[in-house]
Amino acid sequence: MNFQALAATADGLATVAADTLIAVLLADGEGKTGDAALDAVLAQLVKQGDLEFKAGRTLYLNAPEGFKAVRLVLSVAKNGSAKAFRAAVSGALALLKGRGVKHLAVTLAGVAPEAGHAEALVLAVDQHAYLYTATKPSADKPVLPVKVSMLAEKASMPAVKAGLALGEGIAAGVGLARDCANLPANVCTPTYLGEQAKALGSEFDLSVQVLDRKAIEKLGMGSFLAVAKGSEEPPRFIVIEYQGAAKKEAPLVLVGKGITFDTGGISLKPGADMDEMKFDMCGAASVLGTVRAVAQLKPKVNLVALIPTCENMPSGVAVKPGDVVTSMSGQTIEILNTDAEGRLILCDALTYAERFKPAAVVDVATLTGACVVALGHHHAGLFAADDTLAADLLTASTVALDPCWRMPLDEEYDEALKSNFADMANVGARAGGAITAAKFLQRYAKQYPWAHLDIAGVAYRSGPQKGATGRPVGLLTHFVLSRAAKR
Ligand code: BES
Ligand code: MN
Ligand code: ZN
Repeated sequence: MNFQALAATADGLATVAADTLIAVLLADGEGKTGDAALDAVLAQLVKQGDLEFKAGRTLYLNAPEGFKAVRLVLSVAKNGSAKAFRAAVSGALALLKGRGVKHLAVTLAGVAPEAGHAEALVLAVDQHAYLYTATKPSADKPVLPVKVSMLAEKASMPAVKAGLALGEGIAAGVGLARDCANLPANVCTPTYLGEQAKALGSEFDLSVQVLDRKAIEKLGMGSFLAVAKGSEEPPRFIVIEYQGAAKKEAPLVLVGKGITFDTGGISLKPGADMDEMKFDMCGAASVLGTVRAVAQLKPKVNLVALIPTCENMPSGVAVKPGDVVTSMSGQTIEILNTDAEGRLILCDALTYAERFKPAAVVDVATLTGACVVALGHHHAGLFAADDTLAADLLTASTVALDPCWRMPLDEEYDEALKSNFADMANVGARAGGAITAAKFLQRYAKQYPWAHLDIAGVAYRSGPQKGATGRPVGLLTHFVLSRAAKR
């Protein structure tokens, strides 16, 4: 697909040389868009009682009168925001499924589009175009438009072009994250993730190191290794470096949880829906996707990605409840529940991050079911002691339409991690489980501004739509870009 900005002409929408036109209308706009041909069609529809200007309404028109386009889809948005525009475009695209659209033009009637609208358009189209085929080559391929145009007045063209380019970068990252995460765990192993990182490195000229068990042992990552040791699948510790600014400049570090399958270990999970634990590497996938987006968009910033990756399996050599291990930081951990493994692999990565003297570290993880209970499937959980970092991430999430919600980190929550046999236990009580998990990680992130995103509720969908969402690649990419602009 090729995305472009298309200058609106004095003749209006009637002469737009695309076979398909999506006109996003504003609720309460009463059908007056200022475009003669469109307003004529709208007046007729209203008269017939076929269209209401209520958010979410869509209408497909074949061979609309007075238009060069052979398909016209009307879609009503709640307001002129990028978020409402994205929802309206998605609704319109649903009506175009299976049709032979070759050139799709999209207009936001009566509103000057901004970069955010253009970005939202790319991501909405890309979302609809996504198809998983890796282990299902027979899947019905959707008919994709060759060209997608965002209509804009001359004054809006630069913003729209920038928004499209940004959207394309993020979309590529989202696609990579979804592809990795949707693969079954017998394909997407730690070794596979290492190979993906290497491939990304050669495509974009990034420095990539993939450490094996021996190298991980040498680093003293006793906590990570405790999780990895129950599996026949060898672990990997992946380090990717993108250099977009002077070498001396402190990098941002992203850390992604890469549990390629989480059985719970000896603290075995119940059987129902356990297949979904192949998504327990969505943090890693979103970090890879963000690197992919950043490498394409080339902001002037340094970025390091760290991915500890292994399986969490029960076996005769698996770690047991009550075992005490020594993390890379030297702090000892009593592993009371082997299913709280994400924090055990992340803590060593957070210690490893110190060597980069980072400007900030953000870890991303499908860390707790408790976070899903707290926030559902819309907002990711954001934990940060540093208010500036929290504000930057919240802003990025709003702009990216990839929402997160800040959660508390008060010291009172830390008491739950007390152990009689080690510096800390790896679990506290059930209540506030997402927060105690974050408090655990915080103990390893004292040397730099740190934030944690719990994406357990947003990284993938269950049910008939089962699959990875690619979140929070949008949030993270916007965050990295905002830090580059801030310098
Ligand atoms: N990967 C899970 C968290 C998870 C649960 C992600 C549901 C997505 C959906 C994590 O490793 C885990 O098992 N966490 C435990 C922690 C508990 C043992 C303290 C949980 O949430 O139950
Ligand atoms: Mn677990
Ligand atoms: Zn897990």
